[in-house]
Amino acid sequence: MKQQHITVFGSFVVDLMSRAPHLPVPGETVKGSMFRIGPGGKGFNQGVAAKKAGADVTMVTKIRRDTFGNIALNTMKELNMDASHVFFSEKSETGAALIMVDENTSQNAIMVTLGACSEITEEDVDSIEETVKNSGYLLTQLETNVDAVERVVDMAHRYGVTVVLNTAPVQPISDELLKKVDIITPNEVEAEILTGIKVDNEGNAQKAAEYFFGKGIKTVVITLGKRGVFVSTAQKHGILPVPKVDVLDTTGAGDAFNGALVASLAEGKDIWEACVFANAAASISVTRLGTTPAMPVRSEIDRFLSEHK
Ligand code: RIB
Repeated sequence: MKQQHITVFGSFVVDLMSRAPHLPVPGETVKGSMFRIGPGGKGFNQGVAAKKAGADVTMVTKIRRDTFGNIALNTMKELNMDASHVFFSEKSETGAALIMVDENTSQNAIMVTLGACSEITEEDVDSIEETVKNSGYLLTQLETNVDAVERVVDMAHRYGVTVVLNTAPVQPISDELLKKVDIITPNEVEAEILTGIKVDNEGNAQKAAEYFFGKGIKTVVITLGKRGVFVSTAQKHGILPVPKVDVLDTTGAGDAFNGALVASLAEGKDIWEACVFANAAASISVTRLGTTPAMPVRSEIDRFLSEHK
């Protein structure tokens, strides 16, 4: 099967990441042990994850022509990614995320200011119609302005493009949007917030999946952190475990998963095989620091899979 094109529509922000012995409580100053600045944003992380996994990707996002915006453009150049669908804001700066990571537990706290990527206009979306139309998949999240997500999902749905929605950062989603989604990929916390069902075992995960089926979605993939991933379709459901790895930083693991998932689907793999591939990508990413730079390349994913059969 010919590899299908993927449009990734989402946020770009610069990640300012600090590690420290513990996360500060309000009013406390904690001395950090290291600081790193680099490309991030859920949309961009997912686009890079898909590209590095071997996919044919168009990244759609919005930045400003400023110092942080240049980090997006330089990263895309380094990775040989097409930047012709990057929009430029005249109003707001390129966004930034302040990420604090506890070096003992690997837990994090993130404060993200979206800036330019929360200003994607109707005209911006309409200008990418040809690209969306010629894609096999649209992968998007909820980190840009939601009216733009709704518009691009509607466009993809009209052309029969498979819509994959990663529900991060979680927020209420209209039924109108959900009914145009083919594959939904919440984590367990997001699944609970969206469905009202605590995803604490396989039976409850299936109940949450049935909630989404009731909204018109055909495939539900709930990531469960180190417990693996729950997959549910009309034919079959179950949990795919993840191999044990030495975790350094979990930030962006969901993005590694989503990008690799769609990369594998676009190669014609079924949802189960694609989730195994995506689990491998996410497992590698948590052994590294940072987000976009932690995304593994194809040969690393293939090696990981052959070592963890
Ligand atoms: O999912 C991780 C991402 O979320 C980080 O790169 C940060 O930018 C935040 O938006």
